[in-house]
Amino acid sequence: MKKNRIISISIICLLLSTMYIKAQKPTNLDVNQPIEKRIENALSLMTLEEKVAMCHAQSKFSSRGVPRLGIPEVWTDDGPHGIREEVFWDKWSGAGWTNDSCTAFPALTCLAASFNTQMALNYGNAIGEEARYRNKTVLLGPGVNIYRTPLNGRNFEYMGEDPYLSSRMVVPYVQSVQQNGVAACVKHFALNNQEDKRMSINVKISDRALHEIYLPAFKAAVEEGKAWSIMGSYNQFRGEHCCHNDLLLNKILKNDWKFDGVVISDWGGVHNTDQSVANGLDLEMGTSTNGLTTSGTLPYSEYYLANPYLIGLKTEKYSQQILNDKVSRILRLIFRTTMSANRPYGKFVSPEHSETARKIAEEGIVLLKNEKHFFPIPVGKYKKIAVIGENAIRSLVIGGGSSSLKVAYEVSPLQGIIKKYGEEHIVYSQGYISTKSEYGQELVSDFNNDSLMNAAVEAAKNADIVLFIGGLNKNHFQDAEGGDRKTLELPFGQNKLITALLKVNKNLAIILCSGNAVSMPWVNEVPTIMQSWYLGSEAGNAIANVLSGEVNPSGKLPFSFPKKLEDSGAHSFGQISYPGDGIDEEYKEDILVGYRWFDTKKIAPLFAFGHGLSYTSFEYGKATTDKPTYKKDELVKLTFTIKNTGKVTGAEAAQIYISDEKSTVIRPLKELKAFSKVLLESSESKLIEINLPIKDWAFFNDKIQKWVVEPGKFTILVGSSSLDIRQKVSIEVD
Ligand code: GLC
Repeated sequence: MKKNRIISISIICLLLSTMYIKAQKPTNLDVNQPIEKRIENALSLMTLEEKVAMCHAQSKFSSRGVPRLGIPEVWTDDGPHGIREEVFWDKWSGAGWTNDSCTAFPALTCLAASFNTQMALNYGNAIGEEARYRNKTVLLGPGVNIYRTPLNGRNFEYMGEDPYLSSRMVVPYVQSVQQNGVAACVKHFALNNQEDKRMSINVKISDRALHEIYLPAFKAAVEEGKAWSIMGSYNQFRGEHCCHNDLLLNKILKNDWKFDGVVISDWGGVHNTDQSVANGLDLEMGTSTNGLTTSGTLPYSEYYLANPYLIGLKTEKYSQQILNDKVSRILRLIFRTTMSANRPYGKFVSPEHSETARKIAEEGIVLLKNEKHFFPIPVGKYKKIAVIGENAIRSLVIGGGSSSLKVAYEVSPLQGIIKKYGEEHIVYSQGYISTKSEYGQELVSDFNNDSLMNAAVEAAKNADIVLFIGGLNKNHFQDAEGGDRKTLELPFGQNKLITALLKVNKNLAIILCSGNAVSMPWVNEVPTIMQSWYLGSEAGNAIANVLSGEVNPSGKLPFSFPKKLEDSGAHSFGQISYPGDGIDEEYKEDILVGYRWFDTKKIAPLFAFGHGLSYTSFEYGKATTDKPTYKKDELVKLTFTIKNTGKVTGAEAAQIYISDEKSTVIRPLKELKAFSKVLLESSESKLIEINLPIKDWAFFNDKIQKWVVEPGKFTILVGSSSLDIRQKVSIEVD
């Protein structure tokens, strides 16, 4: 009897528990249901409190899921060049984990300089694998703000001055990050083109400049890249903060571009509940709070989209429909990533990632000047090479702000050069010292600058050749978040040192590590200048491979180098145009950014957009089109040949610009509309065929708010840089 009773009780318990699990386990949440179905179902099961909790942070870099329904938290992490170290729950400082030292990839200016979309694909895949491995839902990158002023502290994180180049390079990066089951978060949307007063400056620009210059890279990332999230920027645009800006987020991003992802605020970019609710923000992060304590100012429950929002919903001040839209977007992000059925496993600090980082660095290095074939320096050619400059030994993966990285390793330029040429042939002298790095590494020298300089001059005097390795260093105000540079000059007495070195040894090459243009008073005194970006973990190996000729440089400048600051458009209209009057800022150069300005104003830049030399030379054959006249909706089939007329294999990024010869509005003299990078053996030539959609030649007519191609003559310019035009061919548009 007793035994039977036990059996029947256990059967009843089994039945009850099965029923309970069934009741709990919602039918449509299983991973194979269509995402939209899963969203609908999850929404129907969530309480109001659970929905609101999803719309704001719970820690420095995370926001809540729905534990009751098995929906995980959303974990975000910086940055565009590598996966930031783990920090404490509610602090910016590193938590001291021992398994989060990443691969540092080159800064995005370097990626842009490669003019090679395959590099962007490889980059996104590798960094996506690292983010996946670290269990991130969202990678807070890439940044695609346009390089408007050479002073902007964060230009190194972005892809230069041209909207077309940025658009082409951001799409594959986003696609391949997201193939790893991690959301890219394209930032900072929009018009965050300086660090000076970034939290408040109110940008005013024309619709033409907005659509022709500042939005294209974001539009491409959303419409072609299918970005799963976008980060609102700190600044204001036309009087509304961009993290809750009706025109940018509701009208343009979500309505016009059909963005179905999540708008994430920049950290501390949210300023009120009404606008956050109504103007398209979905996830509030980083509002200043000490988070954990309820007594602290602005604990997470007091975020604008937390209790104030909940109360507003309960009193029906805010609609459930808008809340459901926000939560649907966050659920969609989760179902595309952490709850995706076929999410890959990722990889961290792998040999493949090192190779990817090195190849991008090698392809992005730009040879600005190279007289008398001073470069390459074959191994064994010189007995004594003096390497001078702090950037030869300084860590450049740290610093710069939120993109700063704790890396598994970093090969410095000096290490790479010693490895390549042999220690016995290298003498190093620091030459100058920068200020203490705010990000940990401190270069302490018991010399002052004069004695450092004297020692460097001594080293240079006794060497066959000198490699000066300097530039900027991601310290505050030297290519870093939160502050712009004050001048175009090289800091820390580098110009004085270079002059002193030249006095004792003319065989001196300059290698600049920076993310911004610098002025070069010594430009005519030195035979060779190389622009080496912040190249990441493989920096020294990439630089040494290019120096030795193992790799033939093929990078092209993604932004112009002005001879002096006043030459650039942003600095030609007084304070209101940069850095603004403290409240407002008007981009008075309008659409004429970068080479568009230099062309129109007939100002010669120090080095032009698209400029980059090779150890070989290239000849461009006659450019032809498939016919002389076209309709607006047609493609122009452009063909031309490129021949390698030098002795070594090399790659050339041919650039295609168009010029609208007759337009009713001001247009730049030329605008980049295509590029094609081709690798050629010595004496080899290749036929390049490029389809140019004429619709891409339109300008934005702000009167009718539409893109317009006016009929008439257009000239297609084929160039090795924006100034070095090799071929022209004109066509008529009906
Ligand atoms: C920073 C940056 C943003 C970064 C975020 C999180 O202030 O503006 O790019 O992703 O906060 O660190």
